Amino acid sequence: MAKKVRVGIVGTGGIARSHIKSLQAVDGVEIVAACDVNETVLKAAAETYGIPKTFTSYRDLVALKEIDAVSVCTPNFFHKEPTVAALKSGKHVIVEKPMSMTVKESEAMVAAAKEANRVLVIGFQFRYSSQAQMIKRAIDEGILGNILYARCQALRRRGIPNWGVFGQKKLQGGGPMIDIGVHIIEVAHYLMGSPQPVAVTGACYTYLGDKPSQVKSQWPNWDYKTYTVEDLAVGLIRFDNGATLSIESSFAAHIEKGIFNFTLMGDKGGACFDPPMIFKDEAGTMFNLSPDFVGDEVAFDEKILDFIAAVRGEKKPTAPGEHGLIVQKILEGVYKSSETGKEVRIK
Ligand SMILES: NC(=O)c1ccc[n+]([C@@H]2O[C@H](COP(=O)([O-])OP(=O)(O)OC[C@H]3O[C@@H](n4cnc5c(N)ncnc54)[C@H](O)[C@@H]3O)[C@@H](O)[C@H]2O)c1
Repeated sequence: MAKKVRVGIVGTGGIARSHIKSLQAVDGVEIVAACDVNETVLKAAAETYGIPKTFTSYRDLVALKEIDAVSVCTPNFFHKEPTVAALKSGKHVIVEKPMSMTVKESEAMVAAAKEANRVLVIGFQFRYSSQAQMIKRAIDEGILGNILYARCQALRRRGIPNWGVFGQKKLQGGGPMIDIGVHIIEVAHYLMGSPQPVAVTGACYTYLGDKPSQVKSQWPNWDYKTYTVEDLAVGLIRFDNGATLSIESSFAAHIEKGIFNFTLMGDKGGACFDPPMIFKDEAGTMFNLSPDFVGDEVAFDEKILDFIAAVRGEKKPTAPGEHGLIVQKILEGVYKSSETGKEVRIK
């Protein structure tokens, strides 16, 4: 029989519902408590998913003796505090992406996990996707050779969130770079072997989000009066192994259409994410290899399964806090470089 894992949820909004559903589908996992400052949202989640204990303060939840693990699903400004508190009270933690708003916060989270000897996992689900795992197998078999460069794009033509606090820098830490750029960076960086960044150059531009919408779009009427984040961010990251990664990320950009993709360029072969493909030379010919079937695993379920397996001591997590911290250094580097107009060196 699977070892019982009892979980508490902090923040029961949009993404928490995916966590709850994926957790409740795992053999031996039980969600025993939930917390939200919004009592209506909390009550609805507790009733829908049959969660027995509810709290409006995360402190009451993390103090529960019967809980083994906590899932932190609050907005970015409130990732660090409940994560550190849960780890200090001996709980394992999965925290949603981005890990936090700053490198300082992420460092405190990693240190707390180390001190408490507990698992800390970041909600980076794209690395668990069938496409990414297919590319990982190709990399492990040496098909790409040495990966030199990753081109990453998470671009929306007009997709400024018109809900939540995504346009508020003080609550989110930034705009598209920290919200959606983080997704494509985390998976490309993982496939590159998680190298350490040494320098970042970046630039951020705001030109549409701080004004009322002038055109029809799928997500109209965002709150332009509170909009303090970038519409478009670009960056170039240098790593300690000589590899580089470029990132383009936007909530709004004058482009043909949205794109969420990376291309890895190695000295023997290459790969891209969507559609998944391998590029290689064989028999004197350049081939584009399209897989017939990569698998039908659901990436989000896989990330939750990976977390639970790590909590049970069955494996090391695929997206540990240390990886979240490296990605945070990249994100913060882009913002700092944009503010200063200079390349930022990373320690
Ligand atoms: N992995 C993914 O694909 C993915 C997708 C969406 C969102 N996210 C991340 O999940 C996080 C939450 O996003 P969301 O879309 O669910 O937002 P949301 O606004 O729908 O939900 C957040 C919830 O947290 C609650 N909350 C705020 N402060 C709190 C506090 N101090 N204590 C307890 N609860 C508190 C809010 O009341 C709200 O119900 C963000 O960090 C976001 O980046 C990840």
